[in-house]
Amino acid sequence: MNTLQTTFCGISFENPLVLASGILGVTGETMADVVNRGAGGVTTKSWWVTKHEGHKNPVIIANDSYLMNAVGLPDAGIEKSREEITEYRKHTNAPIIANIVAGSVEDFTKITQKATQLHPDIIEVNISCPNVKKEFGNLFSGSCHFAEQMTKSVKNHAGDIPVSIKLSPNVANIADVARACEANGADAITAINTVGPGLRINPELRTPILHNTFGGVSGPAILPIALRCVWDIYEAVKIPIIGTGGITTGRDAIEMLLAGGTLLGVGTALHFRGKDAFSLISQEMEEFCQAEGVKHISELIGAAHQA
Ligand code: DHB
Repeated sequence: MNTLQTTFCGISFENPLVLASGILGVTGETMADVVNRGAGGVTTKSWWVTKHEGHKNPVIIANDSYLMNAVGLPDAGIEKSREEITEYRKHTNAPIIANIVAGSVEDFTKITQKATQLHPDIIEVNISCPNVKKEFGNLFSGSCHFAEQMTKSVKNHAGDIPVSIKLSPNVANIADVARACEANGADAITAINTVGPGLRINPELRTPILHNTFGGVSGPAILPIALRCVWDIYEAVKIPIIGTGGITTGRDAIEMLLAGGTLLGVGTALHFRGKDAFSLISQEMEEFCQAEGVKHISELIGAAHQA
């Protein structure tokens, strides 16, 4: 077996690097292009049942250490998602993870039923977007009670498609939330969503830079937080983890495996390393494995816990 090839919830991936939700996951063609450029799989942007308006500009700011965004989860609705997943499948057999979002248990049921009909390989449940507070109040993944309810509602309607619940780092105890998801049937955990939300202010204008005031922070600065969260979750549950947050280099990716990630989400690295980020990171991982005598990356998953 190739050193980086991996299996997650029974699904085979050429390498563990998957496009994280919210970056280039809009059209089938751009997602297929990410696979052509070295990703093992992709995650779509968040799908809503019906059309959802995003926030007004400015929605994103970037500097050398992080990116902060409040795009507001814009989406054209499930019929458009059907077209895009059909287009994606024309170009590649690499697994596709459908990220879904909703504002209530009822709507999570509806979007799960619709998404399931499009046969994604995995369903990822976004209960951790930091930017819809005005619409829906506090994060669902901020409470074990809501996390349980959303997990149950999705699992009851997802058939045999594996379900991964995407958690927020912005909670007192992420391991407790992961445990609640596992106890209610989750097949996997994705950790972490963006950090914060954060705030930047334009000093001359004396106003917040983002139209939404606050935004989710991603990029190299959040890697230590993501690693700690994945570490805590790995110690708390038996289900596998999609470790995501700040992975920018092959060494970052190796650290995420050692903390307990099986798949590795990569998103903001495309901003820092360009469109070949996936092939650069996987090449660096291969080089590490060769130098360290690692025959297969399964040797590394969670290995730092045994030290
Ligand atoms: C948005 C959604 C997220 O899940 C996130 O982490 C950051 C931003 C958004 O669309 O605003």
